[in-house]
Amino acid sequence: MLTRELDRTGVRIPIIGQGTWRMGEHAAREREEIETLRLGLDLGLTHIDTAEIYGNGRTEELVGKAIAGRRHEVFLASKVSPEHASYKGTIRACEQSLRRLRTDYLDLYLVHWWSDRHPIEETMRAMEDLVAAGKIRFIGVSNFTIEQLERAQRALTRERIVCNQVCYHLKARQIELRLLPYCEQHGIAVVGYSPFGSGDFPSPRSRGGRVLAEIGAKYGKTPHQVALNFLTRRPNLFTIPKASRPEHVRENAEAVGWTLTPEDLAALDEVFPPPTREGPLPMI
Ligand SMILES: NC(=O)c1ccc[n+]([C@@H]2O[C@H](COP(=O)([O-])OP(=O)(O)OC[C@H]3O[C@@H](n4cnc5c(N)ncnc54)[C@H](OP(=O)(O)O)[C@@H]3O)[C@@H](O)[C@H]2O)c1
Repeated sequence: MLTRELDRTGVRIPIIGQGTWRMGEHAAREREEIETLRLGLDLGLTHIDTAEIYGNGRTEELVGKAIAGRRHEVFLASKVSPEHASYKGTIRACEQSLRRLRTDYLDLYLVHWWSDRHPIEETMRAMEDLVAAGKIRFIGVSNFTIEQLERAQRALTRERIVCNQVCYHLKARQIELRLLPYCEQHGIAVVGYSPFGSGDFPSPRSRGGRVLAEIGAKYGKTPHQVALNFLTRRPNLFTIPKASRPEHVRENAEAVGWTLTPEDLAALDEVFPPPTREGPLPMI
């Protein structure tokens, strides 16, 4: 698995990581989900993304079981929910995530989305104190606009925002207009979530599905691999597909290390048009 430097941290993380939303919600599927996450680690998909809100904490518990004995291999990210993003709430939420994940630090801690209830200055003060206490290594945000990113960065006194995790898939390319160039310019990593549209992937019978298959056929790759390759084609892009089946994680691990040509990119632009005017950030 190819890695890239996360922002300007000096830390390299895999271009393709592992999402976990909706894992841990059904006891019958737990074993396969754990085994798939562990297989992902074997294949180098060591960036695992979770959140306190997923499954009301059950997803973090499942991740804790999956990484038991292998914590040192993992770049572990979790998120504080906006309703908990007061100073004390953020500290408490982090401690509870650590307990569920059975670890004593997170590599990356994100604000899940902008909080209208708690001032960003309070959240960021808590984040910096968590760094100082060794409970988190890096601070990030999720679903933040440029204006919100700037406010979050201004609220920090010692640390930097290292990433913005945002919705990015073939049918949701809004970030390409302003947010992605801004993050590139300011050295902020963009971690794209829901790379397969959270299950709404272009059908093989659609025009887009056919173009993905045609491009894939040239490289011996599947439409899903073409999509992941496309979504990580720029140097500050990462992605975190969620796969609970072993065949899916294997496929995702083979999505990078080859390059789409300008003709491939143009063909994709035709069926999945890039944004032409300003709009709200897509969210799932
Ligand atoms: N920050 C935020 O607000 C936010 C919001 C949404 C998501 N996220 C993060 O982003 C992660 C990914 O997004 P997501 O869970 O919404 O959906 P996604 O990754 O776009 O899609 C997941 C779906 O794709 C399937 N899949 C995975 N690999 C495949 C492959 N190679 N071929 C065919 N199907 C494949 C999965 O099936 P199986 O599970 O059956 O393998 C699952 O049904 C989340 O899990 C979460 O960690 C963050």
